[in-house]
This record gives sequence, structure tokens and C-alpha cells, in this order.
Amino acid sequence: MSRRIAVLISGRGSNLQSIIDAIREGRLDAQIALVLSNRANAPGLERAREAGVEAIFINPRDYADRDAYDRAIVAALRRRQVDLICLAGFMRLVGAPLLEAFPFRILNIHPSLLPAFPGLEAQRQALEYGVRISGATVHFVTSELDGGPIILQAAVSVLPDDTAETLAARILIDEHRIYPEAIEVVLRGAWSIEGRRVKIGNW
Ligand code: GRF
Repeated sequence: MSRRIAVLISGRGSNLQSIIDAIREGRLDAQIALVLSNRANAPGLERAREAGVEAIFINPRDYADRDAYDRAIVAALRRRQVDLICLAGFMRLVGAPLLEAFPFRILNIHPSLLPAFPGLEAQRQALEYGVRISGATVHFVTSELDGGPIILQAAVSVLPDDTAETLAARILIDEHRIYPEAIEVVLRGAWSIEGRRVKIGNW
């Protein structure tokens, strides 16, 4: 696998920033070939441009349906010879055209210890459920929402006076650490999948 990656965003882009920083600091050996957003005003687009990275908005409203939109994304990624896609707060379901074009080449970061609390507002779900430990998960994207094989996780304690916001902020610190790490692991290529288990090196 070459080391040209794309980062797909919808908003703030703090995970995108952590990837940019990891590349700058030599912790991640990769090149961001494209940042793509489904929202015109995603602040992450500006972060990318500030870092000298090409950043584009592709408007879902310009396409008849989800498949057509996903095909447009595939075309944009192929044009830039991207071979690994990192979803970083990309608030859309990834459909078949994208999954089939990049099998086991799409990663996502989710703010819970999957398989607990998939979907939206994972930190609020964890808090309301009453778990004592939550965290962050980087996983391969499959057709199952937040359900693909797990690459790396980090555990974060839930504190008695946490709100969804304070818990989210602490989980985010670990997200920023493990996402670049997981991308480096996948790009290095010393992994395989057995059933649902991602084997990394001897582990
Ligand atoms: C993160 O919490 C990530 O885990 C989730 O969406 C949020 C995106 O934040 N998928 P940011 O845009 O990277 O700051």
C-alpha cells in the first residue's frame, strides 16, 4: 500500500489535526492527498488548507442518491491515487460503492469502546448507561454501522461528575493519540484479519 491517505470530515476536524500533527512530527509516515467534506462550512477544511493540504467540499445535494454521491467520492479519491481513507467525524453512512472500491481500506474513529454504544452521541449513551469505563475505538469500516473489525482501542474512566461534554473531551485526548497510531499500523501492512480479529504483528 502506498502512503497516500484521504481524510473525510463533516465538522471541527480535531482528529484531522492530530493526523496532520503526527505526520509533521514523524510519528506517521503518510501524505494526506485529500481532505473531503460533505459540509461546506466544516472548520476542518480550513485546518487542512492551513497545513497546505487540498481540501474540497462535495455537496450531497448535487447527486440523485447516496450511491451517486459515494461514486463521486470514489472518483475524487481515485484521481488522487488515494489508497487509505480515514473517516474523522464524517457524519454519513458509507455505502456500497465506496466500500467495494476500498475494501479494508477505510478506517473510522468512534468515541466509545465498541461494540458498546455505536451510533450518535456515544459519550452521552455511555454516561446514561452508567458504565465506569468508556473510551475510543479505531476500526475498519464495513456495511455495519460502527461494526467493523477493531484495530486499536483506548480506555477512559468515567468520573462521578462527568457530563457528556467533559467525558467527550477526555476521550478526545485518546482519540488524537490512537488514530495516527492505528493509521501507521495499517499502512505498515503487518496485519491480517481472522474472523473479526485484526492480528497486528505477533499480537
Ligand atoms: C470524534 O469524537 C470522533 O470520534 C467522532 O466524531 C468526532 C469528530 O471530532 N467520530 P473532530 O471533527 O475530529 O474534532
